[in-house]
Amino acid sequence: MNRLVWIAMVVLTTLPGSRALFAQNGVVNAGDVKQVRIGKGQVNLTTTNAYVQISIYNDSVIRVRMDRQPLGDDFSYAVIALPSPGSATIKATNDQINITTTLIQARISKRPFSISFYTPDGQPINEEENGLTTSWVDNTVTAYRKMQPEERFIGLGEKNGPLDRAGTAYTNWNSDVFGYRTDQDPLYSTIPFYIGIHHGLDYGIFLDNTYQSDFNFGASNNRFSSFAARGGEMNYYFIHAPSVAGIIQAYTGLTGRIHMPPLWSLGYQQNRYSYYPDQEVLRIAQTLREKKIPADGITLDIHYMDAYKLFTWDKNRFPDPAGMISKLKQQGFQLTVINDPGIKVERDYEAYENGVQENVFIKYVDGQLYSGQVWPGWCHFSDFTSEKGRNWWKQQLKSYVDVGVAGFWNDMNEIATWGQKMPDNVLFDFDGHGTTHRQAHNVYGLEMVRASYEGARAAMNKRPFILTRAGYAGLQRYSAIWTGDNRAEDDHMLAGVRIMNSLGISGVPFTGMDIGGFTGNAGVGLYTRWMQLGAFLPYFRNHTAVNTKSAEPWAFGEEALEVSRNYINLRYRLLPYIYCVFYEAMETGMPVMRSLAINYTQDARVYDNRFQQQFQLGNAFMIAPFESNQQYGEIYFPPGGWYDLYTDEPIAGGQIRINKLGMHELPVYVKAGSIIPMQSLVQTTAERPNDTLYLHVYKGDTANAIIYYEDDGQTYDYENGGYYKRTIRYDHQLILDKATGSYTSKFSNIKMILHGFGSLQQVKVNGGVQPIQSSGISFLSPISRFDPQGGYATTAVCQVQALSIKNSADRIVVEF
Ligand code: NOJ
Repeated sequence: MNRLVWIAMVVLTTLPGSRALFAQNGVVNAGDVKQVRIGKGQVNLTTTNAYVQISIYNDSVIRVRMDRQPLGDDFSYAVIALPSPGSATIKATNDQINITTTLIQARISKRPFSISFYTPDGQPINEEENGLTTSWVDNTVTAYRKMQPEERFIGLGEKNGPLDRAGTAYTNWNSDVFGYRTDQDPLYSTIPFYIGIHHGLDYGIFLDNTYQSDFNFGASNNRFSSFAARGGEMNYYFIHAPSVAGIIQAYTGLTGRIHMPPLWSLGYQQNRYSYYPDQEVLRIAQTLREKKIPADGITLDIHYMDAYKLFTWDKNRFPDPAGMISKLKQQGFQLTVINDPGIKVERDYEAYENGVQENVFIKYVDGQLYSGQVWPGWCHFSDFTSEKGRNWWKQQLKSYVDVGVAGFWNDMNEIATWGQKMPDNVLFDFDGHGTTHRQAHNVYGLEMVRASYEGARAAMNKRPFILTRAGYAGLQRYSAIWTGDNRAEDDHMLAGVRIMNSLGISGVPFTGMDIGGFTGNAGVGLYTRWMQLGAFLPYFRNHTAVNTKSAEPWAFGEEALEVSRNYINLRYRLLPYIYCVFYEAMETGMPVMRSLAINYTQDARVYDNRFQQQFQLGNAFMIAPFESNQQYGEIYFPPGGWYDLYTDEPIAGGQIRINKLGMHELPVYVKAGSIIPMQSLVQTTAERPNDTLYLHVYKGDTANAIIYYEDDGQTYDYENGGYYKRTIRYDHQLILDKATGSYTSKFSNIKMILHGFGSLQQVKVNGGVQPIQSSGISFLSPISRFDPQGGYATTAVCQVQALSIKNSADRIVVEF
């Protein structure tokens, strides 16, 4: 190279503030730091091309905001936590600023500006990709982060694709995707949060920007991972904790956690598009009872309304909604109704007239009301990003509460309209920050469920059930979510598991998918396998599209019915355990359904295509789903001991086994050391189980604990101490700590069922000797009459040891 050119290049690239470096061909970087202001827990910088603010949220969380103009009002729909910098330190030198918390050291370089994150002892966790840093192309701002060797990426909410997202890329733009493909992106909701994993140093990134966003985990490049927003600020939270669980805890500390759901919403829900008229709804309820299929919920899809007009009932199909709902309640059913956001434009239709009068509908920039076409025809849409719009909605919901509706299914809230192209120049209040559709789109569903949750909670004065299709980070505070219009195909069942696992990693624990598949008709094998799986999912709802075949558990023949019933029964017996897992989700943000990547993060096999669908329900169960036509399945057992749920066979961890698969049993395993509270079989959660809590204890070598939690399952009294809670620890002996809270347990007796303990003669309970009984137990009922032809496994009875004691709120110690 010509020496002069070379010298010129060196001078150019080392000159402070050289714009040649920072604005090339339309790519603009922050440039050099020109001004530094250090405040309490916060660093404010002015750079050549940008304004930057770095705030310490807590020991695990550091937030970075950047814009090319002075930073605007600090406003978020997702984040509800305030910064609390604690004892973190900020030190500045000529070249660098260091922020150090107990867990993170953020190093800010001044020339040019960049920010990288290390452990306090200097190991890289996540570094700026120096040549690229954070930059703008037009209005799109992108942060480029250095790709670490072997780096994995998990999370990002409701996304198709593999558990480990390395090598893939995604877009966030809430979309109505009827019958989507299992590689389709984007889907219905946006959760711009993911976790990076490498060298035992895991971190989370939450990009809190509601514009369309794009994430690249090394797709088409081997250099960086990146996250970008097509407008607004670069505004992200960097999270580091010693474990993935800790990162989820910190993320949900920012964006919030669930409230305890109504207990009935954890029971089985029967649905189709659509059950009508009222006699049909009652027939379905009656049949569930007659066939002894436990169930708690029936859901009404759009045909309950008069010409799909929200807040109305079709007078011919449902002449007396209150009467019907009261009959359902007498049989132990709660009713959920669908609510779409579109309000039909029609003279004399009350909601329309009232909405126009109250000025709650969204408008174009010229002040004309926006109309989009959906089920009822042309509709207006309430602006849920305004307090006024939300309050209006809350008032409207009362008519449902008055007739006894207990669940609110918020559908089509992406917003979905025929044509799927809402114009950019439709305006939203954005809670006083006035903006266009481009910024408000991804948050519309979140604010709709916020209004639904707050409105229904106030009107009912107890826990409503809210279900949504669209949403944004933080939706877990208000609602459960389901994965929309899947297909009745094997790969959709497994894709659904991966999507739900990803939602769980992304702070959303209450999730479901249409069991049996929405579009198309499942065969007997697929339906049966899906129902088995459903019993282990957080939200267990059977749903199918209009014009498909019947999909109730009895519609697939006797054998499918018996298998489905077996697993629904098991679900109901497991409800005390499932409720404890929901309690844990409320307290810590840990999902109910857990990808193995949460507890076995560093184990490469967990990400293997063959095993990536395996998941845990809480920490006790591991479920291995397979396509229904598979005869044999490979199952990976992570380190530690496991037991076969059905036979009690102990299985050493760290191995792969090949299992024969059958239609009668879903492969389910119990982790050694688990404590699983169960109850007697009931047909609905409205029925009281018998007064014995069945505490299954699985022998293990490592200490384990569960927080046993009960409350009334309906009200918010638990927020004021109305619960019954005790820690149960197992470490060679079993200790039930003293119970706390003002609620009295439903169970006055405890039967401990000991798995894997060999033959015990006696145990000591609080020092006193207690006899042990040997007995056989089975988690499923025999359906052996189907075995001879099918060659399927016969239902296993495992031999266990058991002891019965009186439940008492005092400390109970059991020595083996
Ligand atoms: C779309 C939803 O995803 C689906 O579950 C529902 O049945 C239809 N809308 C009709 O309301």
